[in-house]
Amino acid sequence: METEQVMQKIREIGANEVKNGNAPPEVYTRLAIEKGIQLANEMNADVQVVEAALWLGDSQLALCMKQNRAQEHVQVSAEFARIAMKEAGASQEFVENAVQAMSEHHSTKHKNLEGEIVANADGYKFLQPLGLLSLVMKDAKKRSDIETLKYALSKLEEKWNVLTIQQCKDETRQNYDALKFVLESAIQKATQLNYE
Ligand SMILES: [Fe+2]
Repeated sequence: METEQVMQKIREIGANEVKNGNAPPEVYTRLAIEKGIQLANEMNADVQVVEAALWLGDSQLALCMKQNRAQEHVQVSAEFARIAMKEAGASQEFVENAVQAMSEHHSTKHKNLEGEIVANADGYKFLQPLGLLSLVMKDAKKRSDIETLKYALSKLEEKWNVLTIQQCKDETRQNYDALKFVLESAIQKATQLNYE
């Protein structure tokens, strides 16, 4: 178990990566952490490992996207996180567990319960209206309108498909169906009208 001081340092490091533009907007992380902590408590997993993995697992994603190597963001973030957690004073065992958990956050196969919780909680970023609409609004500056809608739909599908915990599927099914209906309808009509 890590001290509150170590956890606070890890949170500050995560928030700082958001501020300096290396990590995605904090709203996504907060949606994931809220669910991750709840699941970890309910499933008797290590709450601190889950929280640290969710703070830092995407900590270099925005940077990797800018460098056109988004597919490497899991590894790059994990390398950053390993050093950052050590500097925050976390034990070697904690660092290894958190790195393991964050390295599986886009996977449906997990070496430990914390990794499974992190991946499922990560899905809540875009399986809730606030997260997905936030993505649409922020992404609209970078792509055409229809490309933004298609991108949002792809993120919705990706996160739905990463869920392996039945409770998470049950809880988000209504959001998934509703958000999918809205996006597909908009894409269909835009295509019909040649609206880009
Ligand atoms: Fe990620």
